[in-house]
Formats: sequence, C-alpha cells, structure tokens
Amino acid sequence: MIKVIISGAAGVMGHMVAECTAAADGFEAIAGLDRADDFSGSFPIYGDFDKCQEDADVIIDFSHFSAFPKVLAFAEKRHLPLVVATTGLSDDDQKAIEAKSKDFPIFKSANMSLGINVMADVLKQISPILKDFDIEIVEAHHHRKVDAPSGTALLLADAVNDGLEAAGMDKKNYTYGRHGLDCKRTEDELGISAIRGGTIPGVHLALYAGDDELIEIKHTALSRKIFANGALKAARFLVGQKNGLYDMQDVIRAQ
Ligand SMILES: NC(=O)c1ccc[n+]([C@@H]2O[C@H](COP(=O)([O-])OP(=O)(O)OC[C@H]3O[C@@H](n4cnc5c(N)ncnc54)[C@H](O)[C@@H]3O)[C@@H](O)[C@H]2O)c1
Repeated sequence: MIKVIISGAAGVMGHMVAECTAAADGFEAIAGLDRADDFSGSFPIYGDFDKCQEDADVIIDFSHFSAFPKVLAFAEKRHLPLVVATTGLSDDDQKAIEAKSKDFPIFKSANMSLGINVMADVLKQISPILKDFDIEIVEAHHHRKVDAPSGTALLLADAVNDGLEAAGMDKKNYTYGRHGLDCKRTEDELGISAIRGGTIPGVHLALYAGDDELIEIKHTALSRKIFANGALKAARFLVGQKNGLYDMQDVIRAQ
C-alpha cells in the first residue's frame, strides 16, 4: 500500500486526487497539507505542515506556487519522494527542485496526462520538419486559474524548442499574447495565448501555419481525473526510485 500525503488537499485537484486515490488499487491518502487545519474528512489536513507526523511513502503536490518552498522543505525534512504538479513555479523554485533532487527523488510535470506528454513528443519531432511554418500555442482554462500561460503551454513550447535545438536549428522566442499597433509577427517568434472562462479543465492547441495550409494539433482534457490518475501513476513510479529529477517521459519509458 502506497501511503500518500496530498498537498493542496482542500483544493479542486486535491479533492480529485483523494477521490482517485480511494478508487485506485494500492493507494491510501493518509494526510493533507493546505492553508488551514481540517479534521472533518477521511484524513486530517494540516495548515501547519510541522504538525503532520503521518508515516507516508510519497507527497503529491497540487497547491499554489506561493506554497511551494514550504512543500519542498517539508519533503526534504521528511525525506519523502515528491510529485510536483503545481504550476507557475519560479526559476528559483526550479533551481531548488534540481538541487534537492540530488537528496531525494522528485517528479515534476506541468501536465500529468499521457495525452499531453505524447503531444509534446509529436511537437518535438515535427517542428524541425515544419521549420518554415509559424508556430503558435493557444490554451484555454477555467476562470479560477491564477497563472497564465499554463505550465502545459510552456511545456509544449519547450518541446518545440527542444526539437529545433536537437536538429541544430535556432530556438524560438516566446511572445505572450499580442496587443497594440506594433505586433507584427517575426520569424523567430513562438506565440503563446491564454483564454480563461467557465469550468474548462484544459485545452491546448498547437498551430503550425504555413503558406496556404494549417496543421492543428489539439488536446482537450475532458475531466480533471486524467491529472489525478497521472499523478498517482507518477507516485507509483517514484516510490523506490534513486534520487533524481524525473518527468512523465520517464514514466512512459518505464511502462
Ligand atoms: N500538472 C498538472 O497536470 C496539473 C493539472 C491541474 C492543475 N494543476 C495545478 O495544480 C495547482 C492546483 O490547482 P487547483 O485547480 O486544485 O487549485 P485550487 O485553488 O482549487 O487549489 C489550490 C489549493 O492550494 C492551497 N494553497 C494555496 N496557497 C497555499 C499556501 N500558501 N499554503 C498551503 N496551501 C495553499 C489552497 O488553499 C487550495 O486548497 C495549480 O498550480 C494548477 O495549475 C496541475
């Protein structure tokens, strides 16, 4: 039985992880971390992380970038493998993840779904072939989302640049949204635009616009379950791994 501490347990994804943990074989949610105590559910949620003394195997973090330094310190103190799903992390957070992953295993992915990670692989492969096409990424999410563009849009943009770099081509510069009288597109640009509204779990569209032709590669999340179940898959992979930094490509390769 893999015992899980859910960080961001009181949030939308925290609830979804708890629901999927209860439905999955071999997992048990034993505690939560969030902004405030809540002992009314099937496991205790602690506002003060130091009060969480439960004996766990892994932490799954779907919280908020402002909470992340605390979450990382908690994982380090308890020496627990950490699955990071929270987005909007700073460069300093990223550096801290890389440094701490030498001391305990950390998994990080801005998108826990298999589909998006396969889409990233596809973009990596086709971008050098479609080098003369203008590439744009458009994402849409629910109106509660605080960060923009989504971590997934950046993951996909990075996949484009990884593909170009691997083929010895220049990487693109990211342009976030467009507004004003001086926004003419340049060749070295990769545009990233964000739409916010309603309850959309997540839509990501990669557009390759050429002369008289358009390729559209689109992923639509129909339920947040794909992220929660993906995080559980990552947790199962991470428990027992050597220290290091892992992502969804490692999980896919291990299947
Ligand atoms: N990687 C993925 O596949 C994936 C998928 C969906 C969401 N996410 C990310 O997961 C995160 C959570 O998403 P959500 O929709 O559940 O958001 P949410 O706002 O519903 O939940 C966030 C939770 O974090 C808690 N929190 C906020 N600040 C805190 C702090 N300083 N200390 C402790 N707890 C704090 C909130 O109280 C809340 O319960 C976001 O960063 C989102 O982008 C990632």
